[in-house]
Amino acid sequence: MLVSLSEILEPAGAEGYAVPAFNVYNMETVMGVAQAAKKLRSPVIFQVYSRLFEQGKGDYLAPVILEAVKGLSVPAVFHLDHGSGQDAVVRALRCGASGIMIDASLKPLKENMEETRKIVELCRAAGVPVEGELGHIGSTRDETASEFTRVDEAVQFVEETKVDALAVMIGTAHGKYKKAPQLNLQRAGEISRAVKKPLVLHGGSGVPDEQVKGAIAQGVAKVNFGTDLCCAFLEGIKKTAEGTIAIDLFMNEPIATVKEFAMEKIRLLGADGHA
Ligand code: 13P
Ligand code: ZN
Repeated sequence: MLVSLSEILEPAGAEGYAVPAFNVYNMETVMGVAQAAKKLRSPVIFQVYSRLFEQGKGDYLAPVILEAVKGLSVPAVFHLDHGSGQDAVVRALRCGASGIMIDASLKPLKENMEETRKIVELCRAAGVPVEGELGHIGSTRDETASEFTRVDEAVQFVEETKVDALAVMIGTAHGKYKKAPQLNLQRAGEISRAVKKPLVLHGGSGVPDEQVKGAIAQGVAKVNFGTDLCCAFLEGIKKTAEGTIAIDLFMNEPIATVKEFAMEKIRLLGADGHA
């Protein structure tokens, strides 16, 4: 059942679990995630990178996600991830997204706030909640990491933009970590108590389980998994029996490995049984 980003995050924050947000790329990744959510009775977020919308692929993927969601009795969100600007946001809204992320985190605070607020206003008209990003969550390939999100700036950002969820920089990065990250959980707790909005942890792949649980205890209500889902998919491809040619049969193993991966993360976040 399709619900909005706020509808799915509010109970998570109140009940002390987090909702998994899986980056999906094609029908098979959507199917694996949907099967996992159904089996474990978990709320779930299907999210699509902005570039897929910019390249026109989102138009193909959106009906697949909406079809999967229609067949699920658990609450599910179709979310734009790292929206690059108004164009991508409008495309995602037209495709039926029920959650939008705008990422202007590389811009100075004032510009980030202005752009985010504009998108919040646009999305309000469509009844769709918005996730903003403050403090840039970069890539594991970056030479240096950005500063942690500041509490005073987070308060100002939320007040001025009216975002419904906030992605914060507390030590994670996107991609495969060279060494396990050390999250600033104390900072997450300070921000959460000050802004009273659900926090979002990006770069969930490779974060040690105990730190993920610690982040949830400090107010993180949505955890993003991208890279490791891709790895699970590729592992499934490698497992496929040699000589398999028909593509639907070739894709059965990757659907199964994505499902297993998603089930593991749903359990880690404590989201199982919450739908
Ligand atoms: P990973 O690819 O590091 O899991 O990050 C996913 C993410 O944050 C998507 O926005
Ligand atoms: Zn991210």
